[in-house]
Amino acid sequence: MSDRQEPRGRRPLEGQVALVTGAGRRQGLGRAICARLAADGCRVVLTDIAAAQPLLASEHIGTQSEMELTAAELRAEGAEVLALALDVRDEAQVEAVIANTVRQFGRLDILVNNAGIGYLFSPIVDMPADFWKAVMEVNLLGPLLCTKHAARQMIAQARGGRIVNIASQAAKSGHPHLAAYIASKHGLVGLTRTAALELGQHGITVNAVCPNHVTTGLGAVQNAYYAKLAGISVEDYLAKMRQGIPLGRVGQAADTANACAFLCSEAAAYITGEAMNVSGGAEMH
Ligand SMILES: NC(=O)c1ccc[n+]([C@@H]2O[C@H](COP(=O)([O-])OP(=O)(O)OC[C@H]3O[C@@H](n4cnc5c(N)ncnc54)[C@H](O)[C@@H]3O)[C@@H](O)[C@H]2O)c1
Repeated sequence: MSDRQEPRGRRPLEGQVALVTGAGRRQGLGRAICARLAADGCRVVLTDIAAAQPLLASEHIGTQSEMELTAAELRAEGAEVLALALDVRDEAQVEAVIANTVRQFGRLDILVNNAGIGYLFSPIVDMPADFWKAVMEVNLLGPLLCTKHAARQMIAQARGGRIVNIASQAAKSGHPHLAAYIASKHGLVGLTRTAALELGQHGITVNAVCPNHVTTGLGAVQNAYYAKLAGISVEDYLAKMRQGIPLGRVGQAADTANACAFLCSEAAAYITGEAMNVSGGAEMH
């Protein structure tokens, strides 16, 4: 980890290479994470599934052209960026994208497991088994496969590394009509803790970030669903939500991106196995 200590004046992650999953959507958290890591000096591998999915509406899928647009914006700011299709459920694709990253950028230092689905709402008594399986495959199998192959690369490099899993407030508390999502995010914290135990000896830290509802991306869809269920407008739903947040505002993508950047920095070198709330105080355990 010694080469993480950059001379004064350099950006904190200068020269590091970061791979972020599910980062294609314009309003998504992954885009904000990529932008923040690039601003801190990372070369960024921006990935997303970029293909239609049976249970998901097309507007919930990050496309290759969206990825290219974001990549072009980050390049205009001076960042080096690759935009690659990656379905996190497909182990062969995971291996190929990591090999491609190393071929083009020479190394891999940071993995952010951000890809996730949480649009398949249903009360438990009506839940189709397919909903459960679909959510578990993206939200749990995906992070496992990416962690497995990224960690192999980091271990081979012998320079340590950082893995950040984007969990959720849903990893800490239940929520109606989202049993699969909630269970998957609780499970992601379990994966985080086990990976932290196994990979600590290699100087690789593994942490989860647990944002509350962010008003963009998947959070916006969830807000619309629960507002409709309560028979109120999204504005009234968000106003009610704000009342339960000590800091008095809902989460922004930048809040999550800032937490990721911290966990990837040298300042967080002694933090591993944590599930850090980024919730304005809405979640405290
Ligand atoms: N927005 C919120 O309120 C909020 C709160 C807490 C946690 N999160 C988590 O943050 C992450 C990003 O959420 P978001 O709000 O940006 O949602 P989003 O829908 O904008 O982003 C999710 C991305 O995952 C991608 N994806 C879906 N299936 C995939 C697969 N098989 N392989 C690769 N990529 C796939 C989608 O194409 C999409 O780009 C998710 O893990 C989500 O659970 C979001």
